[in-house]
Amino acid sequence: MTKTIAIIGGTGALGTGLALRWAHAGHTVIVGSRTAEKAEAAAAELNAELGREAITGMENAAAVAAADLAILTVEQAAHEAALLSVKDALQGKVLLDATARLSFHELTPPVAPAAARRAQELLGAGVRVAAAFQTVPAAGLRKNITEPMDSDVLVCADDMDAAEAALALVHAAGLNGYYAGKLDNAITVEGLTSLLVSMNKHYKSRHGTIRVAGIRKE
Ligand SMILES: NC(=O)c1ccc[n+]([C@@H]2O[C@H](COP(=O)([O-])OP(=O)(O)OC[C@H]3O[C@@H](n4cnc5c(N)ncnc54)[C@H](OP(=O)(O)O)[C@@H]3O)[C@@H](O)[C@H]2O)c1
Repeated sequence: MTKTIAIIGGTGALGTGLALRWAHAGHTVIVGSRTAEKAEAAAAELNAELGREAITGMENAAAVAAADLAILTVEQAAHEAALLSVKDALQGKVLLDATARLSFHELTPPVAPAAARRAQELLGAGVRVAAAFQTVPAAGLRKNITEPMDSDVLVCADDMDAAEAALALVHAAGLNGYYAGKLDNAITVEGLTSLLVSMNKHYKSRHGTIRVAGIRKE
């Protein structure tokens, strides 16, 4: 079923890649930004790349209000501020949180609680949060958007409806998703991202990601 998806901070590296892939899959996508003008400009560029008008741009809270569900893809330092700016608009909805906190110099594992757990605490029980996409490199998403991407996505959520919504969007983006347990497990996925960035640096890559072995999905 097609959905209307708001991408909070959708003008950035990860958000634009997801916007293109979800629009290609037939979803209605609203790119969110702190300013409507920047969002509209980003949407126009993405539509030009896509070759049709499938993406609109709005200020973040307006984007969330107009959507069925939302994903947070803001710069990591803006996590709390961005969540507070859309808290009211998110009530009753599912939020995917892609945040992977990284210290780019030390590349040490992030400290618990997971960013997605922190989001759940800030937003309250009226919003169901799922963590997803933390290990997916934005550079890979923007390449060949009509092709599946060689990457698996671990989805963590306390609420199974939120997990299923996230898994459906993982699939729509051309990736392979796995339910990976409760929301607190997202801290481990954030740690994997730190590990992947270390590997990217060592092997001079921009595309490090993960694949799961040994699990057959029914
Ligand atoms: N890049 C990746 O490969 C990748 C992969 C997996 C997960 N992630 C995670 O995804 C998130 C986004 O990463 P990114 O690389 O896409 O980030 P980014 O390009 O640096 O920034 C994304 C957007 O954040 C918004 N933003 C910046 N400061 C803000 C503030 N103070 N308040 C509200 N919004 C603000 C900006 O949107 P406006 O100026 O339009 O408001 C910007 O376009 C991060 O948490 C990251 O850990 C990234």
